[in-house]
Amino acid sequence: MKITIIGTGYVGLVTGACLAELGNDVFCLDVDQRKIDILNGGGIPIHEPGLEEVVARNRAAGRIVFSTDVAASVAHGDIQFIAVGTPPDEDGSADLQYVLAAARNIGKHMNGFKVIVDKSTVPVGTADKVKAAIQGELSQRASDVKFSVVSNPEFLKEGAAVEDFMRPDRIVIGCDDSTEGSTARAQMKALYMPFNRNHERIHWMDVRSAEFTKYAANAMLATRISFMNELANLADQVGVDIEAVRHGIGSDPRIGHSFLYAGCGYGGSCFPKDVQALERTAQEYGQQLMILNSVEAVNEKQKQVLGNKIFKRFGKDLSGKHFAIWGLAFKPNTDDMRAASSRVLLSELLRAGATVAVHDPVAMEEAKRVLELDFADAPQLLKNISYAVNPMDALDKADALAIVTEWKAFRSPNFDQVKSRLKNPVIFDGRNLFEPSVMSGLDIEYHGIGRSVLTRA
Ligand code: UDX
Repeated sequence: MKITIIGTGYVGLVTGACLAELGNDVFCLDVDQRKIDILNGGGIPIHEPGLEEVVARNRAAGRIVFSTDVAASVAHGDIQFIAVGTPPDEDGSADLQYVLAAARNIGKHMNGFKVIVDKSTVPVGTADKVKAAIQGELSQRASDVKFSVVSNPEFLKEGAAVEDFMRPDRIVIGCDDSTEGSTARAQMKALYMPFNRNHERIHWMDVRSAEFTKYAANAMLATRISFMNELANLADQVGVDIEAVRHGIGSDPRIGHSFLYAGCGYGGSCFPKDVQALERTAQEYGQQLMILNSVEAVNEKQKQVLGNKIFKRFGKDLSGKHFAIWGLAFKPNTDDMRAASSRVLLSELLRAGATVAVHDPVAMEEAKRVLELDFADAPQLLKNISYAVNPMDALDKADALAIVTEWKAFRSPNFDQVKSRLKNPVIFDGRNLFEPSVMSGLDIEYHGIGRSVLTRA
């Protein structure tokens, strides 16, 4: 099928590459010439395991092209995916300017029936706005070309996006029940047929419900995390091991095991933004989402949990103290630093007078970029960060190690080396990577999240 993808960011590029891999003829459009140049030069502008190979293979086979030519992109695809950014506005609502600009471009150039798919995460009612934007352009040039707007939210996890796309547990598609809507439905069904052959994975629904489903899914997952983080903080107080509790409750099939890991807070491009946007939608309708308000507040506080444990152990003034930090990205297998907990910890430590040595397998360049913004008010503090090429080098003479991201490479370090390179054998583990009993056997002072029962403080 002939597909156009508007936006070669994270979602657009993965969607385009994976649809090309299935044999479709894909045209990827972006307004950013730099991104298009990277893609046409054989690279990819983001870090995502497996993606570069899929892009390269399909480029070589001529199944995917990258361009900034808007008219050509509209002419190409019978199905046009809008996969541009929806960054939060100042008030937390999703900024739709890029989505609507893409819609207007489609309206300006289309000369035959098109299915327009909202792939970006957009609030309820956006499909109607997209429809109006396209209709507005068509009216201006007195065109009566028909089209249908469909909602097909993505559920891709960064770091596992190719796998998630290729092996979806569900595909949510919202269509309206007009004649155009049923044509769109048939085309979407054909497009996703390769995933639907053996199991029915498509959930058909109306457009608004599909838009809402994406927010509901992310809000639910964020809620589970904040719930466990709140319990973990209590567990630390009352001498309970949150990991034992996680196993204990997760084996109830009504609860399940996933997304119950306590830690130093969730980050990334989706959870913080989508929770806020859903709260904002509720406000527009005169409602307050009390649970989600708390989910957000708990998470903001949880990002300070490592800093608070460090202050408790070393005092509020950290002048003369030096810390090692493992992990900067908001989660493993990505260089994404958006809303990463490491940014809060770095701010707390540096502003309290400490120096730090950090290591992250892929996010150090991106970290340098975002930290310049975080420390715009105190740029001299950036000199107190050193970037180590491997985890062990970050440890030298540090008063303690803090772990912020659960990269696989941090899970089984040589603890003799860890101990000999640190000044004090103290670990603050924001992702509960290690067993407190093992740490105590190694004579390492270990501070996990919600594991105080076994902690030797
Ligand atoms: C998320 C959703 O999972 C995905 O379906 C959606 O399309 C986009 O948002 P992503 O942001 O890539 O994906 O990351 P995810 O793996 O879900 O993790 C989000 C954050 O939650 C990370 O910071 C992670 O460390 C944290 N997390 C996750 C926890 O703190 N505890 C958990 O139990 C799980």
